[in-house]
Amino acid sequence: MAEPSPITHEEFTLFRRLIYKIAGISLSDAKKVLLVGRLARRLQVYELTSFSQYYRMLADGQHPDEVQTMVDLLTTNETYFFREPKHFDFLREEIIAKRRNNATFRVWSAASSSGEEAYSIAMTLAEALPDTPWEIVGSDICTKVLAKAVTGHYSLARTEGIPPGFLQKYCLKGIRSQAGTFKIIPELRKRTRFQQINLTLPIPTDIGEFDVIFLRNVMIYFDAETKTKVVNHLLPRLKRGGHLIIGHSESLTGLDIGPLTAVRPTIYRKP
Ligand SMILES: C[S@@+](CC[C@H](N)C(=O)[O-])C[C@H]1O[C@@H](n2cnc3c(N)ncnc32)[C@H](O)[C@@H]1O
Repeated sequence: MAEPSPITHEEFTLFRRLIYKIAGISLSDAKKVLLVGRLARRLQVYELTSFSQYYRMLADGQHPDEVQTMVDLLTTNETYFFREPKHFDFLREEIIAKRRNNATFRVWSAASSSGEEAYSIAMTLAEALPDTPWEIVGSDICTKVLAKAVTGHYSLARTEGIPPGFLQKYCLKGIRSQAGTFKIIPELRKRTRFQQINLTLPIPTDIGEFDVIFLRNVMIYFDAETKTKVVNHLLPRLKRGGHLIIGHSESLTGLDIGPLTAVRPTIYRKP
């Protein structure tokens, strides 16, 4: 089969607009190599010889599964357990320790990737709320990482960052065919569910309201307009007095974020 022709500037622009329209992800010119690297294999799968042909296939409305595959390939899913650990200290010491009722404590890991963030929250809640019901929702636009998150099954190489006591209590080390891996214990997995949510679209109200929403390391891919839209989609899903936590390299400065007030540089509260 002939080698696909190199992507042209016009073709790159088409893909850039498409992923922005679907997921709000802004790709700079510098991301051309990344886009080609991630999508080239799809052209081979369909024996296409140009990115225009692949674009036409995605845009014709007849290939929703392939559109999802493209979204899965163009998202960056890097994550790890207890990433930015100060947020988990804040959750325990400032939010949980100061809560005023025993209602089910609900946390949303929005843009959860493969689940490490959601399960880090689960371990924190299991430890800090032994006698109070709690539940966690993890969500992402990428179906591939959600499938992984549901299993709660990871390589042992990913345990870095998990406090040793938590590792012992909340993680099961695999043996025989599962050697070199570990699984989050069923008690935590059954309180942590995952679903696909595109944060740039209105959020289904049946997801309920949350005491805390983690929205970390996803807005780095968004421009100001998308960030504003996403935060305003999330706001009604935050309980009064609830907290929104963003990544340390992210900022909401200068954006219209409604009633949210900053209580730390990356932590906001809804009055
Ligand atoms: C770098 S990961 C961050 C994971 C985790 N929150 C953390 O801080 O480690 C960013 C995630 O955002 C997801 N994402 C990107 N655009 C999204 C959108 N429009 N809606 C929902 N998730 C999105 C990606 O699929 C990816 O898994």
